[in-house]
Amino acid sequence: MKLQGKVAIVTGGAMGNGLGIVKSFVNEGANVVILDYSNTLPEVVSEFKNQGIDVLAYQVDIRNEQMINACVNQVKEKYGHIDILVNNAGVCKLEPFQLMTDEVRDFHIDINIKGTWNVTKACLPYLKEKGGSIINLSSVTGVSVSDSGEVAYAMTKAALLGLTKSLAVELASSRIRVNAILPGYIYTPMVENMAKLSNPTNPSAVIDGISKAIPMKRLGDALEVGALSVFLASDDSSYITGEGIVISGGLTLKKL
Ligand SMILES: NC(=O)c1ccc[n+]([C@@H]2O[C@H](COP(=O)([O-])OP(=O)(O)OC[C@H]3O[C@@H](n4cnc5c(N)ncnc54)[C@H](O)[C@@H]3O)[C@@H](O)[C@H]2O)c1
Repeated sequence: MKLQGKVAIVTGGAMGNGLGIVKSFVNEGANVVILDYSNTLPEVVSEFKNQGIDVLAYQVDIRNEQMINACVNQVKEKYGHIDILVNNAGVCKLEPFQLMTDEVRDFHIDINIKGTWNVTKACLPYLKEKGGSIINLSSVTGVSVSDSGEVAYAMTKAALLGLTKSLAVELASSRIRVNAILPGYIYTPMVENMAKLSNPTNPSAVIDGISKAIPMKRLGDALEVGALSVFLASDDSSYITGEGIVISGGLTLKKL
């Protein structure tokens, strides 16, 4: 098992990519802690419990710096160390630039950028004790591609790649590696909701359209993001830092 004895904090682990990462980490022997504001969190924890797996979870908003500090300190008290942080929690609301209010813009900035900032700052003193791995969920959106309505989302996801690279340099001497995952389309509630908004009567037509545009002809699975996260969290990637790794089924390769 690649993460035996490690303690991993995963934000947004109640569903989607985060849940795929949590499952993959648990399968590799990690003690996993979820920070997520979703009301479905208790259900997720009890599903793990039914399988004999203890997952610690805090229902908390990553925008709330004080609460995040308190949770992270409790994790340190319980386990004695923190080795892995996955900044996965993120939001996306599609709206044309001219129509987007400052509130919606700030919603993206506050969660996607400042939330990541808060959790990273809270974990850093503990990660520094033994070294570790930080993984940030960026996106191909904003870094290499985009669609209409994605300006705020794209801006924040590109910012996370900058944060990743800069932190990687700063933390290398503390034996902390920092990398980003850049997914294309992964089949998660976020994508399901976008499909419903785009075609309320036939969302599966939207998903089919996306699949056709991807060279591998399907969306990714959250467990595939989980497998990449295990690689980046484990010693298998011991000489990789400051990288953004695309997982997209070839989405970004196609010419017109
Ligand atoms: N699904 C994709 O195709 C895709 C593509 C590129 C990047 N990503 C990135 O992957 C990450 C996860 O995406 P997903 O598709 O699984 O999304 P999702 O909406 O399905 O799940 C996001 C999770 O984050 C939690 N969350 C959101 N804001 C939070 C906050 N302020 N505090 C605590 N928890 C919060 C939600 O409750 C939810 O459990 C995001 O950062 C997203 O930008 C997803």
